[in-house]
Amino acid sequence: MIDRGKGSYLIDTGGKRYLDGTSSIWVNLHGHRHPMLDRAIRAQLDKIAHSSLFGISNPPAVQLARALIRIAPKGLTRVFYSDNGSTAVEIALKMAVQYWQQRRPAAGPKHTFLHLKLAYHGDTVGAVSVGNIELFHSRFKSLLFPTLEADPPYCYRCPLSLTYPSCEMACLDPVERILKDHHRELAGFIIEPLVQAAAGMLTSPPGYLKRIRELCTKYDVLLIADEVATGFGRTGKMFACQHEGVTPDLMAISKGMTGGYMPLAATLTTDDIYQAFLGRYEDFNTFFHGHSYTGNPLGCAVALANIEVFKKDKTLLRLQPKIKAMARLLRPLRRLLHVGDIRQRGFIAAVELVEERQTQKPYTLEARMGHRVAMEARRRGLLLRPIGNVMILIPPLSTSLQELRRMVDILRASIEITT
Ligand SMILES: Cc1ncc(COP(=O)(O)O)c(C=O)c1O
Repeated sequence: MIDRGKGSYLIDTGGKRYLDGTSSIWVNLHGHRHPMLDRAIRAQLDKIAHSSLFGISNPPAVQLARALIRIAPKGLTRVFYSDNGSTAVEIALKMAVQYWQQRRPAAGPKHTFLHLKLAYHGDTVGAVSVGNIELFHSRFKSLLFPTLEADPPYCYRCPLSLTYPSCEMACLDPVERILKDHHRELAGFIIEPLVQAAAGMLTSPPGYLKRIRELCTKYDVLLIADEVATGFGRTGKMFACQHEGVTPDLMAISKGMTGGYMPLAATLTTDDIYQAFLGRYEDFNTFFHGHSYTGNPLGCAVALANIEVFKKDKTLLRLQPKIKAMARLLRPLRRLLHVGDIRQRGFIAAVELVEERQTQKPYTLEARMGHRVAMEARRRGLLLRPIGNVMILIPPLSTSLQELRRMVDILRASIEITT
């Protein structure tokens, strides 16, 4: 039972302190109780907590939209608010479908989506339809719309049994085949850029995303980047797409958007897509989608302060040596008998535990190894939330070197003692 927080620490109702190894499920960036973020909410609360964005607006929502456009991949110039990552994805999907109806009505229905296997885009029904995590999704199959799926670039367990880089990213060939055969019905290709997060932080090889962008352009399919987990500095740049100079057609953001303070999300898009929704009143080209708390002023005010903290604290600059330190600290864990793979992208790390390293044999479900390691870490003062037997370390970007060292020490000891 978490009662309080300060910096990288969470404190439970009994007063015990834990390092926040999950950034409170990948949302916190600058630590808990950052004075600028606390102040921004208080100042906004003195004006108003909420007013609707239906037909009217509010200054923080407008200012935030401008600030988001400044930091987003070049060419994303329009912002549509919502309040969680799944919803930002739903909006991207619906926008893509409506875009094609209005932009090229004669081209026939471009109504479906391509996505990667093991993708996770959220828990609402549209987001589940473009996801593929058996455990979360299989019970709801009857509710889902049909999609097309391609193998992910999961290099540790390569679906093609090849090795990077000699494979020359052969996994892109089937992606191109699908796009070639089905582009007439495909509204978009949705992808988690650089890191398939909930799949166990599967990191894609350099150049993979750029190639996906090129293929989407070639086959006239919208690229939807789900930056809900990777956005706001997690990968070392503000957005993962920026590592490869990619501008998606639609981009979903949430999680770190408010520095982990308030539920807020947005779907960013290009002017070309925006223009397709204009027209005479009676044409009803409007995007009929809106939520009660859309553009919530408290959320927008703290999200704006979050971007200011990036500037003031030089968050991205100061993060770079810590990313290198994380790699250095994790390296010795490779020697542990039950560590199969270590993946890292920016300040996101995953340690995949296996029963047998030689054969990559996973632990049985009954062993509950990931859970047991996390419980051991909790006893030692580090909060983790594993994905199956993959231990995830995703600390706040503000974590100090000393705290990072302690996190990795606890993780290592917990793995050693439990396995
Ligand atoms: C890539 C990605 N997309 C979407 C979501 C869903 O976000 P939310 O939990 O805010 O609905 C998540 C959540 O983990 C995510 O990792």
